[in-house]
Amino acid sequence: MKGRFITFEGGEGTGKTTQIKMLAEYLQSKGIEVVLTKEPGGTPIGQELRTMLCTGDKDKFDAVAEALLYYADRRIHLQQKILPALVEGKWVISDRFADSTMAYQYYGYNKRVPKQTLEELYKMTVGDFYPDMTVILDINPEIGLARSMARNNSSVVQETRHESRGLEFHNNLRNGFLEIAKTSPRYNVLNADKTIDELHNDIIKLIDERLLNA
Ligand code: TMP
Repeated sequence: MKGRFITFEGGEGTGKTTQIKMLAEYLQSKGIEVVLTKEPGGTPIGQELRTMLCTGDKDKFDAVAEALLYYADRRIHLQQKILPALVEGKWVISDRFADSTMAYQYYGYNKRVPKQTLEELYKMTVGDFYPDMTVILDINPEIGLARSMARNNSSVVQETRHESRGLEFHNNLRNGFLEIAKTSPRYNVLNADKTIDELHNDIIKLIDERLLNA
């Protein structure tokens, strides 16, 4: 496989989507072919799963059912979009991947789903394949949720299922991402409480050091 796979992770309202677009433009300016994608919803079937997962009542199903649906989305996403692009030598940047399941469905829900179950689901659906680099955008959940709610208020579809969980969930989630970051050198935690341009500069510095000039 010739391409690179970069994932962006973090809680609500970190500015991931804006940063990913800016990074894609930067890489394209260096002559790299980039595929931008996201989870859930990186494929047509994934879009249907996204509607199921991200809208409606927060308690309409539990963390196990959620994890299974996120992994179904992930498997389809890998087979239909991520792997074919990497084989063609493209760089794939995904707005969330499997670390979100560990952070939201395990840490967020206060470890109610066994961690081992999620690790086994990873092995079964993704196999021995990992992102080349994962950028975790970290922000105080009170600031992130306020940003995210402001964005949702101005959009037609209300994707507020996870935002509507309490602050305890979001604090667990943040700590979960920081725990996950300790497990491999592929993780890079960046402070997202900055201006858009400052954060973009931090991201390209990282990409230059770790991937472009490595
Ligand atoms: P986003 O567009 O803000 O990233 O929305 C996706 C939502 O889905 C977000 O609230 C995080 C949640 N999510 C999970 O709970 N588990 C997962 O595995 C993934 C990929 C997303």
